[in-house]
Amino acid sequence: MVNDLNETLIVYGTRYGATPEACAEIQKILEREYKLLVEIWNLENYRACPDLDEFDNIILASGIEHGKWTENTIKFLTKDLKDKKVAVFISSSFAGTEELYEYAFKNYIEDVLSEYPEVNIIAKAAFGGRVSKKDLPNIARNAIVARLPEFQEDNRNWEKITEWAHEVGKIFTSK
Ligand SMILES: Cc1cc2nc3c(=O)[nH]c(=O)nc-3n(C[C@H](O)[C@H](O)[C@H](O)COP(=O)(O)O)c2cc1C
Repeated sequence: MVNDLNETLIVYGTRYGATPEACAEIQKILEREYKLLVEIWNLENYRACPDLDEFDNIILASGIEHGKWTENTIKFLTKDLKDKKVAVFISSSFAGTEELYEYAFKNYIEDVLSEYPEVNIIAKAAFGGRVSKKDLPNIARNAIVARLPEFQEDNRNWEKITEWAHEVGKIFTSK
């Protein structure tokens, strides 16, 4: 541990703003219930990202578009993260459905993380997302909405996000 404060960094990539809302909720729980100091960083500004030496714990989060994380969240996985506790989540409309959850967890979490075995992953999750029909060009509407058994603009499950924040908080504060 770098210092007694057990500092935590949440870094995220987003295209439509759903992922940072989950990050903010998780930050609140980690600060209030686990007394962690939590900083949040939008990886759109990758170069100015805080120095990782200052952090013991990292949460990396990405929204999914056409099956992909944002470019900078993938780039972040190439940093030296073997001595950190790293928790990862994605926000995806497929993950918010019973029918496509397994598909999303395998494709957007397991398959991606398997390419970065050096990263010390302590928790991972696939959460639902929020998508507005106006953000979906026709081609995406066919590809995405058609696969969703029931189209719901917002299928995030806040209870699940809260539960995961507690799971991560316990691991971050354990020696
Ligand atoms: C153009 C577009 C493509 C998308 N592609 C996918 C996809 O391939 N799989 C999926 O599960 N969700 C997909 N979604 C839904 C997003 O993953 C969901 O809205 C997520 O919450 C976005 O996170 P963000 O707002 O942080 O970018 C797509 C949404 C849009 C607008």
